[in-house]
Amino acid sequence: MNEPEQNVIANPQSAEPESQVRSRPAAGAPGPGTAIFAAQDVSVYYSSFRAVTDVSLSIYENEITAFIGPSGCGKTTVLRTLNRMNDLVAGARVEGEVHYRGASLYAKDVSPTAVRRRIGMVFQKPNPFPKSIFDNVAYGPRINGIRNRGELNEIVERALRQAALWDEVKNRLNASGLSLSGGQAQRLCIARTLAVEPDVVLMDEPCSALDPIATGAIEDLMREIKSRYTIVIVTHNMQQATRVSDRTAFYSVLRDEHSDTRTGVLVEYGRTEQIFEDPVDSRTKAYVTGRMG
Ligand SMILES: Nc1ncnc2c1ncn2[C@@H]1O[C@H](COP(=O)(O)OP(=O)(O)O)[C@@H](O)[C@H]1O
Ligand SMILES: [Mg+2]
Repeated sequence: MNEPEQNVIANPQSAEPESQVRSRPAAGAPGPGTAIFAAQDVSVYYSSFRAVTDVSLSIYENEITAFIGPSGCGKTTVLRTLNRMNDLVAGARVEGEVHYRGASLYAKDVSPTAVRRRIGMVFQKPNPFPKSIFDNVAYGPRINGIRNRGELNEIVERALRQAALWDEVKNRLNASGLSLSGGQAQRLCIARTLAVEPDVVLMDEPCSALDPIATGAIEDLMREIKSRYTIVIVTHNMQQATRVSDRTAFYSVLRDEHSDTRTGVLVEYGRTEQIFEDPVDSRTKAYVTGRMG
């Protein structure tokens, strides 16, 4: 885990080419800021099965981007291309280009583990380690070589505060992470992700196992942290997409009747209000009005 990071955009700002210098729009302006991901004609295969085909989209800094669509349309698959998590899936192969802050994420000299440190991921099912609450959050910083107790204390408190969990656990940091409720455990996993100060947080249906109150807490926290992070969230809950996201990508499944194959496609991508209130594609309209999927 201690490989050199020089190839992975350890300092994102310096890796940005001139043409992409951040141009934040004035407050309230509708235009996008810096595109930090640019996917171009991305297809993902699991062995010979093409799960998604020709996805092109940009993801913008300090925004929340939602991926929606029926089950099996490739939302998780595309999300995993953004931090090279598909490298860990046997038989998975990515075609096309994914640029992250102007550099190719799949170039030969890029270290996938360093990528995953910059681009963290929160999974559908909360997965705290069988360790104390403190050690769960300190896990990443320790891997990064931080040993000083005072420094670790500060990092753990900051991450737990950002994840809106500090007040609930500050008096039992030595209790097991497994002793938390589902909603708390998911916030612990978010704190664990934030503790290494990632650039991007990918969330794959992070609320699907949670009750409405815990879901509300996670949504509040997403809105709270988006000024410092860029978030991409997969959700099957369209209300959630409208509540939290700035931009929405709608995926669907294309069936080829001759070959009897199915593949995921990106149907429409735009500002969330546009996708839900004024969709261009009839498939998007059918889905967001509940007539399909
Ligand atoms: N590890 C895998 N091996 C083989 N096929 C997979 C794997 N993961 C996903 N798939 C297939 O790829 C397609 C897209 O899956 P996925 O990205 O999980 O969709 P979604 O997240 O939208 O439900 C589905 O047909 C699914 O069965
Ligand atoms: Mg999925």
